[in-house]
Amino acid sequence: MDLKNGSVVTEFILQGFSAGWELQIVFFVTFALIYGATVLGNALIMVTVTCSSTLHSPMHFLLGNLSFLDMCLSTVTTPKMIRDLLTEHKTISIRGCMAQMFFMHLFGGAEMTLLVAMAFDRYVAVSMAIDRYVAICKPLHYKTIMSHRVLTGFLLLSWVIGLIHTTSQMVFTVNLPFCGPNVLDSFFCDLPLVIKLACTDTYTLELLVIVNSGFLSLICFILLLISYAVMLVTMWQHSSSASSKALTTLSAHITVVTLFFGPAIFIYAFPFNRYSVDKFLSMFYSIITPLLNPIIYTLRNQEMKAAIKRLSKHHIGAGFTH
Ligand SMILES: *[C@@H]1O[C@H](CO)[C@@H](O)[C@H](O)[C@H]1NC(C)=O
Repeated sequence: MDLKNGSVVTEFILQGFSAGWELQIVFFVTFALIYGATVLGNALIMVTVTCSSTLHSPMHFLLGNLSFLDMCLSTVTTPKMIRDLLTEHKTISIRGCMAQMFFMHLFGGAEMTLLVAMAFDRYVAVSMAIDRYVAICKPLHYKTIMSHRVLTGFLLLSWVIGLIHTTSQMVFTVNLPFCGPNVLDSFFCDLPLVIKLACTDTYTLELLVIVNSGFLSLICFILLLISYAVMLVTMWQHSSSASSKALTTLSAHITVVTLFFGPAIFIYAFPFNRYSVDKFLSMFYSIITPLLNPIIYTLRNQEMKAAIKRLSKHHIGAGFTH
């Protein structure tokens, strides 16, 4: 067989979670529940933000858009993984694989940028609240900084960064020749793993992935940590009574952000040495955080809870009277 004669591989085998069938069923039920909760939770937030008349601040729009991205992100990998748990031959076509990687990095890149924009929004809000606390009367300031134009700019920027981020990697990936082994030790097509299977020298491409994905996640993560640190210090300096509640909120944010970025940085900034834990780590940014984000960012938020209650009452009420 002449291996130089173009691609002979037409599909990849996803090793996923290969365990006994009892365990596969346990995984199936668990992940189906997680995915169901992710879709429901995020859809609830999107509907609430869109339909509620009280949640029209930039923060709520950002939360609604984050929920949309989370839903997209988990839909790229989770339904296919759930279906694969029940099948013997877990395969994915090369095209499906390329699509999965394209959308994974599009939504992932957009989400990372959006999280930074959300931290900036919170920083503006915290500074304004403190200004008011220090009795400088600037009630309009938050809205002037986080104006509709700035907000739209942030959303556009996050999609543009996501698009540039994924395209710049995928243009070099789509035409890779695959002719040798075709087994991926993961439950979805993860870029560093797929590149490793190409039967050509991929050293440069791997460097590109480190620079692109590794740096994007590292820079966003550092920006987030800096903005959280600045907020904490600012709050501590100015108000001790408000800071304990804010501290709880911020530490919850720092936890999800670390769960999202930590594994991504570990996998993408060091793709040369693969570890068997990578498969489980990659679950954090593909499955777990899209579920945690709505819980941590939104459903603990009092205004949001009140709006959800109002909306559901309104609709149940309407259901009874019609
Ligand atoms: C996303 O943000 C825009 C504001 O720029 C808003 O109009 C839209 O409703 C948001 N989407 C969701 C699902 O909240």
